[in-house]
Amino acid sequence: MSDNNVIKSFLETINMCITQQKLLKIILSNPLNSSNLIKNILIKPILLKDKLMLSFTYRYVTKDQVTNFSIAEALEVLKGEIGVNWLQTNLFSTEADYQLLSTKKGKHSLVVHKNKNKTSPPDLKHDHTKSRSIELNGQLYLNKLGITNLKGELLKEGQKKFKQIHRYIELLSEELSGLKNNDSINIVDFGAGKGYLTFALYDYLVQQKKINANIVGVELRENLVALGNNLAKVSGFSGLQFIADDIANFKPQNLDVLIALHACDIATDLAIHKGIVSNAQLIVVAPCCHKQIRNEMEAHSDFKELMKFGLFKERQCELLTDGLRAMLLEKNGYKVKVVEFVGLEHTPKNLMLIASKTNNYSNNEVKIQAIKSQFGIKKHYLETLLETSN
Ligand SMILES: C[S@@+](CC[C@H](N)C(=O)[O-])C[C@H]1O[C@@H](n2cnc3c(N)ncnc32)[C@H](O)[C@@H]1O
Repeated sequence: MSDNNVIKSFLETINMCITQQKLLKIILSNPLNSSNLIKNILIKPILLKDKLMLSFTYRYVTKDQVTNFSIAEALEVLKGEIGVNWLQTNLFSTEADYQLLSTKKGKHSLVVHKNKNKTSPPDLKHDHTKSRSIELNGQLYLNKLGITNLKGELLKEGQKKFKQIHRYIELLSEELSGLKNNDSINIVDFGAGKGYLTFALYDYLVQQKKINANIVGVELRENLVALGNNLAKVSGFSGLQFIADDIANFKPQNLDVLIALHACDIATDLAIHKGIVSNAQLIVVAPCCHKQIRNEMEAHSDFKELMKFGLFKERQCELLTDGLRAMLLEKNGYKVKVVEFVGLEHTPKNLMLIASKTNNYSNNEVKIQAIKSQFGIKKHYLETLLETSN
């Protein structure tokens, strides 16, 4: 059998095990690239709202990250992983165990051990993991944004973005369910870009959850705004619109949730500021670059020796920029969580600040000033914005 056919027939075996409910688990291990931060992936069948899905646990050294896929999506993801990113794949079914070994040169060999005694199929009903997935099929926007083909199948080049979308919906669904009045939500997505995540969020809230959501994507680039509006129209997403504007000038009306993902440098501060002054219930930002603080930062005494290393200086800039953002949010009555948005292998810009409005205003001014003075920072841009709006 040719090497391509080994993989093809192995994928068919996986598909057969799934459809005949014989699949116990699949483990992808021994990453092809030793610098891969994911050490292995464990895949198990689960029932979510009576629908059979596959749950992927991506195991990093320090954490696990779970994403649930429909069977069609899972098979597409597996196609892009087995023998491509992993040198070993083990498939355990009720009737046999399979081991696929791959080499870096693309050779594959499959060994099968039949089980003497059949194992019982897994009791899927006992898994209570929540469904938060985006359906691939029939989603025009996923096709137009280059994530799926016309048949609704995940494209290889769309996989990273799709994983990002999944994780984003997973994180936001939890936060949104905690909002006071979550049957009708006004959301603004600042620096929406091409709108991958804006469309996915609308799809999740309105199509799947039947929530009356209005989402506005604010974006400087007029061509992207025109594309977004056109796609929203042909998709029938009547509560989604894109507006060409600068975050600094945009005046949100009844803002419940503010989102700004990878908005450049101080655009993240402009967005957070809009959220705070509009009293948004939820502010979600994934910062991008940190130029403002980098230009101001000047390490004093003990830190000077460390800051001569470019990478340490860069990390320190991120820590100070985003750490001070978190503290300023706390000072303005928000409870802040800092999480990893997606695995570092997808983008190094993977930090997310999730801030929920509370009535607890932190008295942290002295601490903020102390941290700034350690690093010669006169003003964080968010501070300047907050001062001018007082
Ligand atoms: C890196 S892209 C991120 C796109 C999208 N949020 C995502 O995560 O896929 C950042 C976008 O923010 C836009 N942007 C930057 N500064 C802005 C500003 N002041 N007002 C509006 N949009 C801005 C850029 O044009 C760009 O499209």
